[in-house]
Amino acid sequence: MTVKEIFDTMEYGPAPESAAEALAWLVDMGGRFGCFIDGAFTDPGETFASTNPATGNDLAHVTQATQADVDAAVRAARRAQPAWAKDGHARARVLYAIARLLQKHSRLFAVLESLDNGKPIRESRDIDVPLAIRHFYHHAGYAQLMDAEQPDREAHGVCGQIVPWNFPLLMLAWKIAPALAAGNTVVLKPAEYTSLTALLFADICRQAGVPKGAVNILTGDGRVGEMIVAAEVDKVAFTGSTGVGRRIREATAGSGKSLTLELGGKSPYIVFDDADIDSAIEGLVDAIWFNGGQVCCAGSRLLVQESIAENFHTRLKARMDKLRVGDPLDKAIDVGAIVDQVQLDTITRMVDANAEGETYRANTAMPASGCFYPPTLITGLSPAATLMQEEIFGPVLVATTFRTPAEAVEIANNTRYGLAATLWSENVNLALDIAPRLKAGVVWVNGTNMFDAAAPFGGIRESGFGREGGWEGLAAYTRARGKPARLKPVQPHSGEGAPRDPLDRTAKLYIGGKQARPDGGYSTPIHGPKGALLGHAPKANRKDVRNAVEAMNAAKGWSGTTGHLRAQILFYLAENLSARADEFAERVDTMTGKGGAREVDAAIRRLFTYAAWADKYDGVAKGVPLRGLALALKEPVGKIAALCPDEAPLLGAVSLLAPALAMGNRITLVASEPFPLALTDLYQVLETSDVPGGAVNILTGSHAELAPTLADHLDIDAVWSFSSSDLSGEIERRAAANLKRTWVNNGRARDWATAEGTEFLDAATEIKTVWVPYGE
Ligand code: NAI
Repeated sequence: MTVKEIFDTMEYGPAPESAAEALAWLVDMGGRFGCFIDGAFTDPGETFASTNPATGNDLAHVTQATQADVDAAVRAARRAQPAWAKDGHARARVLYAIARLLQKHSRLFAVLESLDNGKPIRESRDIDVPLAIRHFYHHAGYAQLMDAEQPDREAHGVCGQIVPWNFPLLMLAWKIAPALAAGNTVVLKPAEYTSLTALLFADICRQAGVPKGAVNILTGDGRVGEMIVAAEVDKVAFTGSTGVGRRIREATAGSGKSLTLELGGKSPYIVFDDADIDSAIEGLVDAIWFNGGQVCCAGSRLLVQESIAENFHTRLKARMDKLRVGDPLDKAIDVGAIVDQVQLDTITRMVDANAEGETYRANTAMPASGCFYPPTLITGLSPAATLMQEEIFGPVLVATTFRTPAEAVEIANNTRYGLAATLWSENVNLALDIAPRLKAGVVWVNGTNMFDAAAPFGGIRESGFGREGGWEGLAAYTRARGKPARLKPVQPHSGEGAPRDPLDRTAKLYIGGKQARPDGGYSTPIHGPKGALLGHAPKANRKDVRNAVEAMNAAKGWSGTTGHLRAQILFYLAENLSARADEFAERVDTMTGKGGAREVDAAIRRLFTYAAWADKYDGVAKGVPLRGLALALKEPVGKIAALCPDEAPLLGAVSLLAPALAMGNRITLVASEPFPLALTDLYQVLETSDVPGGAVNILTGSHAELAPTLADHLDIDAVWSFSSSDLSGEIERRAAANLKRTWVNNGRARDWATAEGTEFLDAATEIKTVWVPYGE
């Protein structure tokens, strides 16, 4: 196009970024890559092509790693780990060096990323690469501070990390920076479509002084991912589809491997009638056309208030027509290529299968070849429509309308996911009223798709668990120091002895604030250490679990109470337990034969601890390098079911109950199986302490029979198990169905005399990061 023509038409001329340097690097490296293991590239093995989706041309060939590669990488990482974990300052220097080198080679990384993934150079240059650099800088800081700030925590050891293709370098940074900062070594697999920036990163590691074996990069498809998950790693971190996340949850169940999953989403983008419409439309460009909508937290579900919907849709279509789709290396391009033909086919198939609503495709020039899909808007869908529920992962926005704020919240939350949500309103009262009601790990107010290394990111529900970013994200890469002993199963006492109490004492379940007979009508005799019959404990079944969940639902109000009120109730609970201390001590003694008084005293102290925490375990405001604050707030997990420890029947149960209540959860406790009777008495203390009915429910019975029911239940948000029966694997495996959170002992013992503090508070809370405009 000539300058004259440009002036005549006012069209953009092409402004391509040069690919020369990136292509030269590929040639320099021989065009065929092995894996990066123990500080060196291996010889290429069986390879496959990494292509440029905009042109279909092969860029390079990368290796399909073998089991031997996985084994070698894990061995190298294991060897390197102890020395790497030793000195936080040394790690900080290396992370800083990586940040500096990424900065130095930022243009090369950006171009290579756009070539390999198809994203516009504007995005890789201004978003992906700068955010990756910021991640390494920020985490150099954590490495420096860790020894002083977290003396009780240590690295897991070796981390297996699997990342997707939508942000190849950025997701690598989100995984590797915190792992290295905390003192872990890593074996990372990039996605098969986009391995090149990970290999360039490996090259950078050599220059940055990363010790041999601390970072290993294995290329290949899902089979390599499976091998990494199955290998001798201590932690697995995955970002990708919910389906694969579920498989990884099942594969790691019972292995004791720590797991974090960042999965899919169908995030709502809510526009209220008082919103700044131009900003909201520009925000949508960032929400759904950023990276061609191939973003886990894309604002892919548009909810517009009915009174402005027609106007909004009209203006949105006009904006869509102005989006420029084409050569990712062109600096004036808004929407680049879809990552691969496979993904393009998926998008096409999903959109073509939809018969509902009205489909509008942007009236913009489309490239004649390559993997491109036009920006698309589908309006008039019902909330239950497939495209309103399923992740499309392409530049396709689906839309519906709402009348009232309450309806907006209802539609927004009508999804199995819970990753992110965006809302637009000029009314600060409305915005800050709606934000807490959205079921999502991240909420953006009057902005969208904002990320920062200091701000935790991650989802709830089927969007996975765990956070990345901030101290909160770092926590996923550390564990409490020390090697816990194996937990031995605690056997119930048996006997023929005469009843200790001549009256038949059959305890009851406690559900919804009332004593309840077990649905099945069965109970188990409980004997003391010398064989005396102490009473009978009911055998709860599936129906009793359902009733307990109903009761927790009815006690929803507890989650909305203030920390001050919860503190008062926990203090009161302690006071009332103290008033009956002798009785409870005797109860424990008659069941276990020892230590009742000590247990009761420790339980009272524990209630005080969490009464103290109830109004002090607050969120933090993160200073992010944008005009805004990211508020990392602590919300209750919701409804928790807990199998109580057997080795400390009263103290163990109180150690779970108290942090759960303090943080605003509702909880159903399954009492220690061999020694349930201290808990069946506790209901009287709960009642006199003003704990609302349903906030705490108590079941007794077989842990092995109840665990599957609890883990399968779709309306329980988390299952905790400290049972001495070996149930961790089964609970984790079954929890994969709805990806509920689990916190299980994996057969490790715990000293309940000292088991309290932030580990428990963290398990009882979920971080919600709310981004609000703030400052000039
Ligand atoms: P995927 O979940 O299969 O791939 C993500 C990563 O997991 C890749 O590195 C892949 O090689 C690896 N992987 C695949 N199977 C594995 C297994 N059994 N064990 C361990 N690792 C395994 O995603 P895919 O198939 O590329 O995309 C399909 C859909 O997934 C997309 O349409 C999109 O809806 C969703 N997706 C979501 C992402 C997110 O960030 N939430 C990222 C990528 C895809």
